[in-house]
Amino acid sequence: MTRSRIAVLGAGGFIGSHLVPALVQRFDCEIDAVDVDFQKLAGDDPRVHRLQARVEEPGVVEEVTRRSRLVISLTALCNPALYSTIPLEVIDASFTHLLPLVKRCTERNVRLIHFSTAEVYGRRAVDADGEPTQQMHEDDSGCLLGPVHRERWTYACAKQLMERVIWAHGQHQNLEFSIVRPFNTIGPRMDYLPGVDGEGIPRVLACFINQLLCGEPLRLVEGGRQRRAFMAVADMVDAVCLMIERPQACRGQILNLGNPNNELSIAELGHLLAQEFAELVPRSRPARFEHVSALQFYGEGYDDTDQRVPDIGKARRILGWQPKVGLREMLPDILRDYIERYGARIPSQSARSPLPQASVA
Ligand code: UGA
Repeated sequence: MTRSRIAVLGAGGFIGSHLVPALVQRFDCEIDAVDVDFQKLAGDDPRVHRLQARVEEPGVVEEVTRRSRLVISLTALCNPALYSTIPLEVIDASFTHLLPLVKRCTERNVRLIHFSTAEVYGRRAVDADGEPTQQMHEDDSGCLLGPVHRERWTYACAKQLMERVIWAHGQHQNLEFSIVRPFNTIGPRMDYLPGVDGEGIPRVLACFINQLLCGEPLRLVEGGRQRRAFMAVADMVDAVCLMIERPQACRGQILNLGNPNNELSIAELGHLLAQEFAELVPRSRPARFEHVSALQFYGEGYDDTDQRVPDIGKARRILGWQPKVGLREMLPDILRDYIERYGARIPSQSARSPLPQASVA
């Protein structure tokens, strides 16, 4: 019997590296795994075929849409510090480079599950008339992006236009598609640490863990009042597997995937992480916090979302899915992963703050 084949673009990234092993296990399928870097994707399962390439390289889209009946596209530059520093690359990665993929999937009747972003909702939850709402809804919310000089929104705008392109191919040219809007998915192997294996500013989780590992103050942008709802990557993987199993129900749908029960402010996240870190590394320096302005931290062009909470009613209904992992439950594994990978590489700050692997529970 021939196994089914799924192409995963961005297979070596954070979500891809969790998704690929789960797909192989659950569906016993072959995977065309495309990425420029596979360090996060462990294992040597013969069913995973690694293609080290950029999606925009000639032949890549041709090859994956010829071989697979389903493409999951995850590639993007999805780190806010990049939106206002290299906006053109951000637009290319989320829009220009993916246009040929949408076209080819349409022409070859290949199903597309495309990862968009919760950033498309913009600054806060509003309805289509701009009136405030509690949560962000796929089909009812307006998208409140800031002015053009606030380059933060280049990413959201590119992602939104890509959603519209996919939507139009579905409506008018019969593309079988689903769009995912992930809400702050976190887990082991997430972002790099600045100065260790990358440069610049990663997302908040890696920023805070880096500061805890280095014994530096956690930097709360504008006091850390902004609110996010964090979801475990395991819940994301579970939802994507259910989407694959329910092609008809998911066809032409945009789905929020997130965990509204894990909503808290960024300052609260910092305190929670610090508490968990102190339990795992008892001799670490007590956490300190520092308030910084967005301008100091990110520079010109940054803007922010005050509160980002998903309405997941549609995903619940269509997929019979419910995110399960609470924030407190997921943090120890994430911290252990970072401590194991980076503890030894972080220079000790003082005699009080060594990070011996042995002290990791
Ligand atoms: C980002 C991406 O833009 C989204 O596309 C993506 O879906 C989302 O992360 C995600 O992780 O899923 P955002 O939540 O704004 O969006 O990104 P973070 O860099 O994680 O920042 C969260 C909040 O923490 C922001 O308000 C930021 O200003 C603040 N922050 C960040 C700090 O207070 N201190 C830091 O050291 C870093």
